[in-house]
Amino acid sequence: MRSSQSLLAICSLLSLSGGSAASSDSDAVIQNANHIFNVIHDSMRQWGSSLHHNGVSFFLANVPAGTQLYHGTSKSTPVNGTEWLAFEPEHAMVFARPHMAPPNRRPEDGRDEDIDRGHHEELRRRQHHGPGDRPPGPPPHFPPGPPPPFEDFEVFEEKEAGYLHTYAAAKDLRLVYIDGMSAAKTKKGTLDSQDVLMFNNTLDDTPKEGERGPMGEFERATKACEMSENEWGGRIDGVIRMEAGFEVILCAFERDLTPVRIIQVKPDSREGGPKGRMHDRTGGPRKDDDGKRRGPPGGPGGPGGGPPGMNSARWMRAVTARYGGIGGDRVSLNYDHFVTAFAYDLDLFQDNSSLPRLGQVPDAELDVVRRDLNALILAHGAGETSRNWQAITDMIVKRYSDELSYLASGEFTDIQSLHQHIETTLSPFIDYSERDNSSEAERCATQFLPLATQDSQVLAARAVHRVAHHVCSTLLEAWAEEDLEFAVQKVQALVDYLDWTSWKECRGCADHEICVVPIWPMGSVADYEKPTCREASRPYDDNGESYWGGIHP
Ligand SMILES: *[C@@H]1O[C@H](CO)[C@@H](O)[C@H](O)[C@H]1NC(C)=O
Ligand SMILES: *[C@@H]1O[C@H](CO)[C@@H](O)[C@H](O)[C@H]1NC(C)=O
Ligand SMILES: *[C@@H]1O[C@H](CO)[C@@H](O)[C@H](O)[C@H]1NC(C)=O
Ligand SMILES: *[C@@H]1O[C@H](CO)[C@@H](O)[C@H](O)[C@H]1NC(C)=O
Repeated sequence: MRSSQSLLAICSLLSLSGGSAASSDSDAVIQNANHIFNVIHDSMRQWGSSLHHNGVSFFLANVPAGTQLYHGTSKSTPVNGTEWLAFEPEHAMVFARPHMAPPNRRPEDGRDEDIDRGHHEELRRRQHHGPGDRPPGPPPHFPPGPPPPFEDFEVFEEKEAGYLHTYAAAKDLRLVYIDGMSAAKTKKGTLDSQDVLMFNNTLDDTPKEGERGPMGEFERATKACEMSENEWGGRIDGVIRMEAGFEVILCAFERDLTPVRIIQVKPDSREGGPKGRMHDRTGGPRKDDDGKRRGPPGGPGGPGGGPPGMNSARWMRAVTARYGGIGGDRVSLNYDHFVTAFAYDLDLFQDNSSLPRLGQVPDAELDVVRRDLNALILAHGAGETSRNWQAITDMIVKRYSDELSYLASGEFTDIQSLHQHIETTLSPFIDYSERDNSSEAERCATQFLPLATQDSQVLAARAVHRVAHHVCSTLLEAWAEEDLEFAVQKVQALVDYLDWTSWKECRGCADHEICVVPIWPMGSVADYEKPTCREASRPYDDNGESYWGGIHP
């Protein structure tokens, strides 16, 4: 492995910087420019990543030291080892509940149980203190200040309490961001980039109760951390994924985090995912000992769909607040160097699907992507300065999103008014002393591209330039079109090609409403086709056909 690192680095230089062989119009970056543009635009955003939920891309991500992160659990002691963290406390609180393992589970059932046994021992040790004794002081790595409220520790049995842990990043965290809704345990392709590509199909998918977290989650976490150790030279601390909220799988809590506080949550405020699909702590639905998936006991729940009652309002409010981005510069991505399967000549859209599937690509064809992912991690870091290409895609989307849907809407009743509207839009790019449509298209296309990037061979630069050019040249073509219907069709085809998620955003939701899109495991087909404003306390309508279908695996 070590000896191949330099070779990988060379591969990296060739492929990641876009060698000249890769700059023809027929190459995949140009063919998939619209998808790559959307990868950049959707990244670290709950909205775009929910609609374009099948990620095929990997970014180096930096979470700055001091960023607060949250962990929900049945345990009141700081985590040592690999676990999950949420960016929003409301997301972590979903897991801040008593452990629900069946009482008759045998110890040899596996890892989760081992951890629990460790915790039981911890509980017993503390209970040796006499009544009224305070439990032992905070662990030495707690920061100065008021100790965490361990006082109630012995009052509640583990089976009755849940805890919300707050941690702060003890250093800049170096993570791999797996895009799309990559923490969604579905069969629709949300796991392909991990299970098929990153883990090279080595995930043992045969259900073995107890040996791993539900639906392979422990194994995914373990494997990612093993790869960091063995293949990536310890250059990565964990991964970022998304479900109903963004999460981090962090390999070494004790090394990378400073515990801030541990508080006990309201005992009856346990909340779950939707009825029948409640998450386990490890992110999967809980299984009772008969193997059937059950909802939260006594949870108000809806008939099959939305998370129950007030708690779901809390959770979904927090999640949807991040539709437009995780915010606060809590995560920055390296957009100058990233790996996306869209940059390779792969047939990602079989069966006329509008979303890519890595699982359908012949496995050998993915090896080049796997190698480039390794090379990316070995050659680059999330901390290095890179241009914010997402901000550039934002300027383009904000400028043209409404404009294009208006032009495509059929509201224009004569070709002259359509021409006039397009001319007004393009006028900054027209030299009326010397009309030249190709110069006009290029001036328009490069409006938002910093000068130094206009001939750049960086993946993001090529894809963004291509998409912007397509917008501008299509407008010119529609302007040249004499037939209204044909002109509108051209813009409609452009809208289909661009597939911007801005066009599915709700307009004018009331203060008590949120815009609802399927977020695993919730949501219906209708929610996907046309997201609408819904009551925040009860966002998911249970009557429609479930968008996600069965649970993976
Ligand atoms: C974490 O666990 C390891 C292995 O069990 C142990 O050696 C280490 O001291 C623990 N660290 C902390 C901070 O508890
Ligand atoms: C894909 O779409 C084309 C054209 O619309 C159609 O001819 C073909 O049968 C479709 N293939 C599948 C697998 O649905
Ligand atoms: C993926 O696995 C196959 C065999 O299953 C192996 O030949 C290939 O080298 C692996 N790829 C990487 C990048 O490790
Ligand atoms: C410019 O106009 C010519 C002739 O109408 C056409 O063939 C060409 O595609 C146009 N180019 C652009 C960028 O619109």
